[in-house]
Amino acid sequence: MSRSRFFVIGVLAGLAAARQRRARQQRRLERMAAAALEVLLNAIDANDRQTGAHVRRVATYALVLARAARLPAHARRSVERVALFHDVGKIDAAMYDIVHEASELSPKERALVLMHPLRGAQVLRPLSAFYPDLAEGVLSHHERWDGTGYPRGLRGEEIPLAARIVAIADTYDVVTHGRRYRGEGRGSLADGRSALRAGRGTQFDPALVDLALEPRVLAALEGAVRTSHGPRIWRRESGRSRTVSGVPDITFRWRSEALEPLPRDPGR
Ligand SMILES: [Fe+2]
Repeated sequence: MSRSRFFVIGVLAGLAAARQRRARQQRRLERMAAAALEVLLNAIDANDRQTGAHVRRVATYALVLARAARLPAHARRSVERVALFHDVGKIDAAMYDIVHEASELSPKERALVLMHPLRGAQVLRPLSAFYPDLAEGVLSHHERWDGTGYPRGLRGEEIPLAARIVAIADTYDVVTHGRRYRGEGRGSLADGRSALRAGRGTQFDPALVDLALEPRVLAALEGAVRTSHGPRIWRRESGRSRTVSGVPDITFRWRSEALEPLPRDPGR
């Protein structure tokens, strides 16, 4: 073999090795970002177990809706993350006292509560390179379809889809699980359905409410409520990391057992 051919082969091998090194480095970075989210989820639990359980239930319901909407896997993971971290802005001693306070909020306390989407987005922004939609989704989870939500008064499809899904899942959990720290008992499944209907087109995206009220989707949501009321809310899984479309992902240990595939709808 001529010297020039050896040289070309050497250069190609060097390029391939460099590509492999870059890929390994990228995977390491992605695992670190995923670990940062796991740490944050653990911190939510450590700070306030009620909020930790709430966000997992919200993620479960949000994923039922995301699957029913036939979102691709990448978008479903994004919805899941927004759901799990939507209330991360409540990691704060003052906020903890306020959200667990049974009495009416003072104007100052109310102003603090209104800040939690913004505070949450600020907490998550350093991870934007890895999870580009996360901070924006968290910032928008209290926006309303009719434009009367907060903090920006976004309207309709200006609100990111993940935030529209999480808004429904959040309210659904508050109604069906209750806010026991406020002395509000657990509502019935019928109360959950009524809350969805009541918010259709005002608080919530009407198309998403219609989807949630489809019999097969509702059955999955209500099955998830029943599961969450049982002794096991989630099962442990490995913290394996994987990548979808270049955005890192994690397998959260909370993965719900309620997420069996929806039955096929022959009408679709
Ligand atoms: Fe919230």
